[in-house]
Amino acid sequence: MKVLVAYASKYGFTRGIADFVADKMRENGVDTIAESVDKVSRPEDYDAFVIGSAVFLGKWMKQAHEFVTKNQQLLAKKPVWLFSSGPTGTSKTDKKGRDLLEASIPYDIADFKRIINPRDHHVFYGGFKVSQHGLGIRLLAKSATVREAMQEGDFRDWTAIGEWATGIAKELESLQRGSN
Ligand SMILES: Cc1cc2nc3c(=O)[nH]c(=O)nc-3n(C[C@H](O)[C@H](O)[C@H](O)COP(=O)(O)O)c2cc1C
Repeated sequence: MKVLVAYASKYGFTRGIADFVADKMRENGVDTIAESVDKVSRPEDYDAFVIGSAVFLGKWMKQAHEFVTKNQQLLAKKPVWLFSSGPTGTSKTDKKGRDLLEASIPYDIADFKRIINPRDHHVFYGGFKVSQHGLGIRLLAKSATVREAMQEGDFRDWTAIGEWATGIAKELESLQRGSN
């Protein structure tokens, strides 16, 4: 069984999550590689997929969205797990008191549930480093409101990411046992 972790990442935080998921799955005995969605040439060579994207303004990056829609017939027949790397900060709830990770589910996911029926979608905390951005974002980041919504730092929760990846490896193992 060969598994592809396909990701879209603008500033590198999501790539780090994808690499970590692939490492964890290999540690659990699953033949896994992580690759940017732009570089995937033969998706049909894989038996299962983990697909993830950074979230900007409530949406997955265009290339990740297109990877799913372009390959929807293949993905609908395979086990697929999705993840999004989004909220920054340490808060567990948003301003309205809702669970922050739940409230951060990007718009794309409802469509993906309909067209490829993924086994799971998980939102992970991401990261934001002001110096990686252009003047517009650097100026915006000076405002107190933006600083509150977009905290600077690396908020990736490696324990949660590792547990999620290990869970996928276990699920794949039992799927394989079931098909033998
Ligand atoms: C302009 C901008 C808009 C963003 N919009 C959202 C958003 O709508 N929802 C969210 O959860 N995170 C949002 N984020 C946070 C990013 O998704 C997060 O920093 C992510 O980890 C970046 O991943 P990358 O380094 O792989 O590009 C935004 C970040 C920036 C800079």
